Order: sequence, then structure tokens, then C-alpha cells
Amino acid sequence: MKKLIAYYSRTGENYFGGKLRTITEGNTAKVAKMIAEITGGDLFEIRQKHPYSDSYMTCIKEAQKDLKDNARPELVALPENMDQYDEVWIGSPVYWGTMPMAVFTFLDAIDWSGKTIHPFCAHEGSGLGRIPSGLAREAKEAKIASGLAVHGSEVDQAKSLVERWISEDGE
Ligand SMILES: Cc1cc2nc3c(=O)[nH]c(=O)nc-3n(C[C@H](O)[C@H](O)[C@H](O)COP(=O)(O)O)c2cc1C
Repeated sequence: MKKLIAYYSRTGENYFGGKLRTITEGNTAKVAKMIAEITGGDLFEIRQKHPYSDSYMTCIKEAQKDLKDNARPELVALPENMDQYDEVWIGSPVYWGTMPMAVFTFLDAIDWSGKTIHPFCAHEGSGLGRIPSGLAREAKEAKIASGLAVHGSEVDQAKSLVERWISEDGE
């Protein structure tokens, strides 16, 4: 069976050490690529059809509204054949204590029976927050393994942390 690393991540304005900076690769994307390199798994980016704004402040409001509405934003695509994967790493930034609602759209679209989910996130202080409980609720048939939280400003130095997590729990 193959491994899949599905992730949501955002480019554009983001905060690093209290300052807004425009980035071309998101924090979760960087961690997802490390996991793919270590595990040899396939990478899949969860992209919403109507992405949130590049402006940090606008994105905050858009994401908050979707959370309040319990929205399921439409996705650009789903992985082609989920049957070939039994281990799935799911990564996202923490948005309002949980995952962006597009990740819930992704979770809803898949039959999780017989699969293990390894959660990981990039965050600015709240750690995994309500991600594990959100996954347990939305992907009921999956086994949820222990997760990894990486602080956004530390992703570039996170390779050994990621390696340790995967060797202890990820495979
Ligand atoms: C809409 C929004 C909500 C956020 N909510 C939280 C939060 O509740 N807790 C937290 O620690 N960080 C929060 N953050 C910060 C992101 O989780 C953090 O910047 C992360 O590294 C972004 O990952 P990315 O570059 O992969 O998108 C939020 C960011 C945005 C844009």
C-alpha cells in the first residue's frame, strides 16, 4: 500500500515574529514536503476553488465566517484513487483552533475505513488545538495516530523533529 501526504497551506501575507511577510510557499507545505521525502509518499495539495485572500486580515475574516457557517468550501480536486493508500498524513495550518474548512470538505469526500491518519499542523502558538477531535468526528472510520505541531517560524529547522516523529509513530 502507498502513503499519501495531503496538505492545505497558504501563500501570501503571514505573520513571522510579529511582522507581516509575503511568502511564496506556506509553512505546512514545507513540512508536507519533508514528510514526503522521508516516507516516499505521494503529495496532494488540498486547494479550495475560491482561495482565501492573500491579505492576512481579509483571510482571517473569510476563514472565520466559513467556520461559523460550518461551510464546506468547494475543492479544485480530490486524489485520484484513495484505495491505494492505507496511511494518510493530513496537514494544515491551525485556523481558529481547528483546520481550515476546506480540509473538512476533503475529509467528508473520502471513505476512511481501514486507513490511518497522521495529523500535522503549522501554528502560531495553539499547537494541534482541536484538530485531533475534528478528525475523529469527521473521519470516524479512520484510526487517528498521534500528531505533530510545528511552530510556523520554526519550519525551516523542523526536519529532525519530523524525522523523529515519523520514526516513533508515523510508520
Ligand atoms: C485565518 C487564520 C486563523 C489562524 N488561527 C490560528 C489559531 O487559532 N492558532 C494558531 O496558533 N495560529 C493560527 N493562525 C496562524 C497559522 O496557523 C500559522 O501562521 C501557520 O503557520 C500558517 O500555515 P501555512 O503557511 O501552511 O498556511 C491562523 C492563521 C490564519 C490565516
